[in-house]
Amino acid sequence: MSTCCVIGLGYIGLPTAAVLALSGHRVIGVDVNAQVVNIVNNGSIHIVEPDLEQAVAEAVSTGALSAQLSPASADVFLIAVPTPFRNNPNGIPQPNIDYVFAAARALAPKLSPGNLVLLESTSPVGTTEQLAQVIEEACGLTRDQINFAYCPERVLPGRILQELISNDRVIGGLTIAAALAGKTFYSSFCKGELLTTSSNTAEMVKLTENSFRDVNIAFANELSLVCDRLGVNVRELIRLANHHPRVNVLQPSCGVGGHCIAVDPWFIAAEAPDCTHLIQTARRVNDGKSRWVIEQVQARSATLEDQLGRPPSIGCLGLAFKPDVDDLRESPALHITTELLVAGLDVLACEPNLHDHPTIKLHTLEVVLNEADLLVFLVAHSPFRDLDLTGRSVFDLCGVTEQA
Ligand SMILES: NC(=O)c1ccc[n+]([C@@H]2O[C@H](COP(=O)([O-])OP(=O)(O)OC[C@H]3O[C@@H](n4cnc5c(N)ncnc54)[C@H](O)[C@@H]3O)[C@@H](O)[C@H]2O)c1
Repeated sequence: MSTCCVIGLGYIGLPTAAVLALSGHRVIGVDVNAQVVNIVNNGSIHIVEPDLEQAVAEAVSTGALSAQLSPASADVFLIAVPTPFRNNPNGIPQPNIDYVFAAARALAPKLSPGNLVLLESTSPVGTTEQLAQVIEEACGLTRDQINFAYCPERVLPGRILQELISNDRVIGGLTIAAALAGKTFYSSFCKGELLTTSSNTAEMVKLTENSFRDVNIAFANELSLVCDRLGVNVRELIRLANHHPRVNVLQPSCGVGGHCIAVDPWFIAAEAPDCTHLIQTARRVNDGKSRWVIEQVQARSATLEDQLGRPPSIGCLGLAFKPDVDDLRESPALHITTELLVAGLDVLACEPNLHDHPTIKLHTLEVVLNEADLLVFLVAHSPFRDLDLTGRSVFDLCGVTEQA
C-alpha cells in the first residue's frame, strides 16, 4: 500500500480518494478550493453522490484521508482536475488543459525518482507527453525516472463508488514500465480487467467512448425531430426498432450535457477538423435539439396564451444534465430554462437535487404541479415518475412520463 496524492477533489477525485483510502492507501487529497478542503477534512462532501459522504467520513475518521491546498510527497500522484474547452471563432472549441499543467507544476517539487504520476482528466491526445515535459522543465526529472501514465475514468455519476471498483480500466503508459506500474497500482482497488497500452491510445480511447455516445444520441435526437414532423411517437418507434437483434437506438433528449459527452468530441475535432464531419455534426445536432426545444416551448406558450387570455406559467422540470444528479455542467435543461426566462416567459423551475441556484428561483415539485399551465419535463429525475398528469398540458423531452 502506498501514499497517494489525489489532485482535484471533484466528482472524480473525491470518490477516488475515498476508495483508495478505504482500500488501505494513505491519501492526501489536494484542491485549490479552500472550501472543498475544509468540507473534506470535516468528513463531509460538496457534491451529490450516493454513499460518498459515508465513505469520506469513514476515511477521514480513521486518518486514511486528509485534504490540503497543495501537494505533498507521495508514491503516487493522481490528477483529476477539470479539462474544459474554450470557444473558438472558427467554430471548433479548443481543449483547455491549463488546469492539468498547473497541477503538474504544483506537484513537480514533491516528486522523487520512482514515483508514479497518473493523469485521469479527460485529455486530448498527447497530453501525457506534454505533462511529462512540463514536469521535466519544472524539476528536471525525466520519464525514465518517473512513471507517467494516462488512465481515463469512465464512471457513471450516481454509481461512482461501485464503478470505480468494478469497471475495466485502460492504462496508457508513456513507457511500458509506467503502464505496468499503473496496472499494479489500480489492481490494489479495481476488480475490473486492467488493460495496458500507450498513453496516446488511452487518451484516444476515452475521447472515442464519449464521441460514440454523442454520435448515437444525435441519431436519436434527429429521429425525434423527424417524428415530430411526421406525427410519430419517437419513443414507441425506438422501442419497436430495437426489437431488431442488431439495432440499439439510444433515447432522444433535450440535448446533451455534462462535463464529458458535450465536451470531449471537440477534443478529437480540434485535432483533426478536416476529417471529423460526423463527430462535429453530431455535436451540432445535439446542441440544435436544445434550440428546437426553446422554440417549441415558446410556440406552445403562445398558443396557451391565446386560449387562456393571459401569459401561461411554464413549469421547467429538471435543470441538471442527467437524471438524479445535481451536476449542472453544460446542462441543456439549464440552458433551455435560462433562455426561456431571458425570453420573458413566466417560468417555474424545479430541480429536486438542488436547494437553490444563483440566478434561477427554484420551486418545489408540488408548487410547479399546482401552478404551471404547461409542464416541460427536461430531465427524467425519479420524483417526476408516476405523477398523475391527467388533463395537463405536458411536453416530455425525456420520456419520464412514459416510464412505468
Ligand atoms: N464527472 C464525471 O463524471 C467524469 C467522468 C469521466 C471523466 N471525467 C474527467 O475528470 C476530470 C475531472 O472532472 P470532475 O468532474 O471531477 O471535475 P470537478 O470540477 O468536479 O472537480 C475538479 C476539482 O479540481 C480542482 N482543481 C482545479 N485546478 C486544480 C489544481 N491546479 N490543483 C488542485 N485542484 C484543482 C477544482 O477546485 C475542483 O474541485 C475532467 O477532465 C473530466 O472530464 C469526469
